[in-house]
Formats: sequence, C-alpha cells, structure tokens
Amino acid sequence: MKIVVLASGRGSNFEAIATAVRSGLVPNTTIVGLVCNNPEAPVLQIARAQAVPTFVHASKPFYQDKRLDRDAYETRLLEILAPLGTDYLCLAGYTLLLGPKLVQTFQNRILNIHPSLLPAFKGLRAQKQALEAGVKRTGCTVHVVTEALDDGPILLQQSVEVLEDDTEESLSARLRPVEHRVYVEVLKGLATGLLSVKPVS
Ligand code: GRF
Repeated sequence: MKIVVLASGRGSNFEAIATAVRSGLVPNTTIVGLVCNNPEAPVLQIARAQAVPTFVHASKPFYQDKRLDRDAYETRLLEILAPLGTDYLCLAGYTLLLGPKLVQTFQNRILNIHPSLLPAFKGLRAQKQALEAGVKRTGCTVHVVTEALDDGPILLQQSVEVLEDDTEESLSARLRPVEHRVYVEVLKGLATGLLSVKPVS
C-alpha cells in the first residue's frame, strides 16, 4: 500500500503513521510522500528526519483577494502526486478544503482524521466546540473524504472523557495519542485487507 500524507502543521499524526509504518505495525506499506502547503510547518522536519520524501506545495501564491484558486492549486498537486502511484491520500492536519478535482480523482481513497465524534463538531476547533457544548465525552474520527467538510463515511472512532476542568489545550492533548492510535488502526486494517472502502452503489 502506497500512501501520501497531506499535512500543514505540527505533524504528530504524520509522525505516528510514519513510526507505525517503519516498525511494521502497518505492514506492506510505504509512505511515498509528505505534501505540505506550508513551507514553515514542523511536519517537514519530521518527515525529513524519517527519510520520507517531502513535497512543499505552498498554497500562499495561489491566493488572490483572500480566495484560494483551488482549481489551480490542485492541478499542480495532482501533477506532484501523479508519479507517486498513490493508493491512499491521508489528511493529517491539512488545513485546506479539498475541491472536486482532487476528491473525484481519488474517490474513496482520501482519509481524514477529525478531533470530534463526527457528525458532531465539524469544522475548526472541534475540541473548543465540544467544551462549549458541555458534552461529557468527545473523541476522534477517521473518515473517508467527500466534497463536504468533515463528512463522508466514518471508518473508526474512539471517545475520551471530557473532564470538569478541561481547557481546549488539555482536552486536545488527551485526545492526541488517541488520534494516533485510531489513524494507525485504520491504516493497518486497509493494509491487511481487514478493512476496505467500497463505493456505495
Ligand atoms: C489533529 O487534531 C487532527 O485531528 C486535525 O488536525 C490536527 C493535526 O495535528 N485534523 P497534528 O499536526 O497531526 O499534530
């Protein structure tokens, strides 16, 4: 299984995936690339340290009047991906919404991790949303990406308790290792054939 990770920031999910792949926990799998839209992102250093090929495809030059020319951005992204022979695109803290071009090209082959129990708390700052809603448990979800934000078939979820004195930071920190396990578990399932994503007919 060949995977490409798309990330924009810290890279803890990328690191967990890369470590699991290297240790054989996700068998018969290669991370053929890390694509990053932010040239300053720490995830790039993590990928270089793990000898994963990195591709910086900055999104900034594709903005005009604060609007991303998604079509132009993704046309170039698809050119980067073309020679890599990607089976799955794994979004791991990738901050850009995906457009129809990319989603259609990789239909049912794009995964994302979101820090809530979807369909609750879609969008930005899901942990903050959970705290504001006063829920007693929240969690994370790995799902198949469709054109709608944080939508698409759910593959795996795990919940964590929300504590009385939690802050956005403490809740995010408690959730992070759970995210890593859930993402790795999904990839392990796909790599071993125990899990498959089939189009709904
Ligand atoms: C994670 O919370 C993930 O669920 C969300 O973005 C964050 C990325 O964190 N989509 P990291 O860069 O993997 O540490």
